Amino acid sequence: MDGNVESEVASVLKSNGKVFDPAAVAAEPVPPVAASDGAIVENKREIVLGRNVHTTCLAITEPDFDDESTGDKEAFMAGVLARYRKTLIERTKHHLGYPYNLDFDYGALAQLQHFSINNLGDPFIESNYGVHSRQFEVGVLDWFARLWEIEKDEYWGYITNCGTEGNLHGILVGREVFPDGILYASRESHYSVFKAARMYRMECVKIGTLVTGEIDCADFKAKLLLNKDKPAIINVNIGTTVKGAVDDLDLVIQTLEECGFSHDRFYIHCDGALFGLMMPFVKRAPKVSFKKPIGSVSVSGHKFVGCPMPCGVQLTRIEHINALSRNVEYLASRDATIMGSRNGHAPIFLWYTLNRKGYKGFQKEVQKCLRNAHYLRDRLREEGISAMLNEMSSTVVFERPLDEEFVRRWQLACERNMAHVIVMPNVTVEKLDYFLNELIIKRSIWYKDEKVRPPCLAADIGSENCVCPLHK
Ligand SMILES: Cc1ncc(COP(=O)(O)O)c(C=O)c1O
Repeated sequence: MDGNVESEVASVLKSNGKVFDPAAVAAEPVPPVAASDGAIVENKREIVLGRNVHTTCLAITEPDFDDESTGDKEAFMAGVLARYRKTLIERTKHHLGYPYNLDFDYGALAQLQHFSINNLGDPFIESNYGVHSRQFEVGVLDWFARLWEIEKDEYWGYITNCGTEGNLHGILVGREVFPDGILYASRESHYSVFKAARMYRMECVKIGTLVTGEIDCADFKAKLLLNKDKPAIINVNIGTTVKGAVDDLDLVIQTLEECGFSHDRFYIHCDGALFGLMMPFVKRAPKVSFKKPIGSVSVSGHKFVGCPMPCGVQLTRIEHINALSRNVEYLASRDATIMGSRNGHAPIFLWYTLNRKGYKGFQKEVQKCLRNAHYLRDRLREEGISAMLNEMSSTVVFERPLDEEFVRRWQLACERNMAHVIVMPNVTVEKLDYFLNELIIKRSIWYKDEKVRPPCLAADIGSENCVCPLHK
C-alpha cells in the first residue's frame, strides 16, 4: 500500500487480477435439490451478491473556504438528505423480506437525540460516565425476566447491539461454563451461531433438520451419543431465519436426558431473535422459560418490537456471569459484555414501546401478523404458487422469483429455491395484495411459454407444499 486511498481501494476491489464486478457471484455448495423430473441432483448454486456500493456512495468533500458565508455546502447537504429521506420512504413501502417492524412513532424521543447516551460496562453497576440510561435498561431487562420467568435476583443481562451479539454472548457463557463443551446447532441456525463457533474456536456439530426447519432430535441423539464424554452446549432456535421454525425445546431437553446428560453437563442458549417476542403471545405455543434447564435467551429489539436502530436483549443466569466478568478500574464498573461502548438510546426506545404496548398490545399485533400470514399463504396457493407456513409462524416461504430485479424491489430474502415474506405488524392486507398482484403479473411473463418452469420446492418445503409441474 502506498498510502494513496484510491489505489488502496482499487487493489482491494481487484479479484483474480480483474476489477471487482458489482454483480459478482460466488459459487457455494448447497444441499442437493430435487430436479423437475424428481431426481436428486448435486447443485452448485451461484449466490448473487448485492450491488457494489462504491459506484453510488456519497463522497465526502472538503468544505470550500467561503462555504460558511455562502451556505452552499449546507444547501447541498440538505438536498442530499431530502433525497435520501424520499428513498427511505419508497424502500420502506416495498419491504417484505426481513423481520423488521417498520411501524412506529418515536416522536416523543426526538428531544433525546442531542445527548451522547452510553451504557458502557455492567448495566447493574453505575460507571463514572453519567450520561447513561441504565435506569431504562434495567427496567427493560426486568420486563423480559418476567416474560421468561426468572426472578430479578437470579438473572443477569444487558441490551445488546443486535441478536447476533446475544448469540455471541450466550454461546460464550456456555463455553465459559464448559470450556471443553461441544456446540450443537441445527443446520438451519442463523449464521451468527457458526460465526461464534469460529470466533471461539469451538468444536461445532451441525444437526439435521425436518422439512419444517425444526431440529431433528433423532439426529441430535445420534450425535450426542458419539460425544458422551464432552459437555453439550446447544443453540435452540425459537424461530429459524428462513422458515420461522421453532425447535422443540422440551424434546431437546428430553433427548439430552435420555443420552445421559445431567443438568450440570449441558448449557442451552435459546436464539429468539424474531420469534422470542412473538411466541409468548401465541396461543398453545410451547414456552421458553428459565423454569426449564436453559442457560440464556436472546432476542432482537429492532425486529418485532420495532426499534429504529439495531439492538437486542440477552438474559442469562446470574451464577454463570461471574466466570465471564472482570472489574475495570477505568470504568469503576464490571465488564461482562461483548462490546465496550453500548448504545444508550436503544434501551429508551425499548422501554418506550414496552410501556405503550404492554403484553396486551403485543398479543394483538402477533395475532394480526399470524392472520395476515395465513392470508398470504392461502392467496399464493390459490394462484398455484408453492408456499409453506409453519404453524405459529408469520414467515411465509414460497418459490423464489425468477427475476432478481423483482427480488430487490421487494427486498425478499432468498435461499436455494425459496424466498420468504415475513409478515410484521406494518404488513397490511393491502400491502400483501399490492405485492401479490405484481408477482402474478410478473409470473405470467416469466412462465409464459413452457420452456421456463417454476422451480421445484419439494426438497425445501416438502412435496405436499410444492405445486411445481411435477408435484401439482
Ligand atoms: C434466528 C436468528 N438469529 C439471529 C439473528 C441475528 O439477529 P440480528 O440481525 O439482530 O443480529 C437473526 C436475524 O435475522 C435470526 O433470524
